[in-house]
Amino acid sequence: MSGLKLSGWLVGVVSSLAFSISSVAANSSKSSEKMLFDFTTVESVSDWTEMSDVVRTVGMSKAALTLQKTQVFQRAVFFSLLNPQPNGAGFAGVRKAVQLDLTGHTAIKVRARVQGPNLHYKMVLRHKGEQYEPFPTYENFFTAKPNEFEEINLPLSEFKAYYRGKPMPDAEPLNLSQVSSVGLQVYGGVYSEQKQAGPGSMEIDWIKAV
Ligand SMILES: *[C@@H]1O[C@H](CO)[C@@H](O)[C@H](O)[C@H]1NC(C)=O
Ligand SMILES: *[C@@H]1O[C@H](CO)[C@@H](O)[C@H](O)[C@H]1NC(C)=O
Repeated sequence: MSGLKLSGWLVGVVSSLAFSISSVAANSSKSSEKMLFDFTTVESVSDWTEMSDVVRTVGMSKAALTLQKTQVFQRAVFFSLLNPQPNGAGFAGVRKAVQLDLTGHTAIKVRARVQGPNLHYKMVLRHKGEQYEPFPTYENFFTAKPNEFEEINLPLSEFKAYYRGKPMPDAEPLNLSQVSSVGLQVYGGVYSEQKQAGPGSMEIDWIKAV
């Protein structure tokens, strides 16, 4: 090979390598992130339904997810009113039936702002189409920053099984390939140190899997 031919060949190899590396990088950054609910563009949130403590005889709490459309932006607002029992038992939440395969993702991210006295929330998942008794829920607890938009990161490995608020360490783990319900809840704190009650709001831009 002459010097000229060799350098031409090298330029070809290097530029095709650079091309394939950059296209792989572009793809992996895209494919590792999946928009689950984009409240800045959805038409409606009527497929989110309330799941609050009124499913029990003594329950008195209330929750609603509603779409806020201003002249310039749109997002969802999760309003809650927690009326817990004296021991802190009580919850208010919303949820949506889904068919999600989150295999390959490591966390769920929520861009939101919490205002009001209640900062302790949880995300509640179900899998395999399981409903109510006797199945556990898979819950990840978080504490929001007051009054500030933030990207709340909820590692999928930290969704643990609970039944009526009690940890169920022996339950089957969450099957990421068959997530069938996604929900958000604010809770009174029957099993935790911090108790909370009263009105709350969470303004939500989007929920993603990353
Ligand atoms: C990106 O990755 C997905 C699977 O992860 C694949 O199906 C798709 O063909 C890839 N796209 C490009 C442009 O490489
Ligand atoms: C999750 O469900 C899929 C589909 O039914 C199954 O193939 C897989 O083995 C399950 N994973 C676990 C960890 O149970």
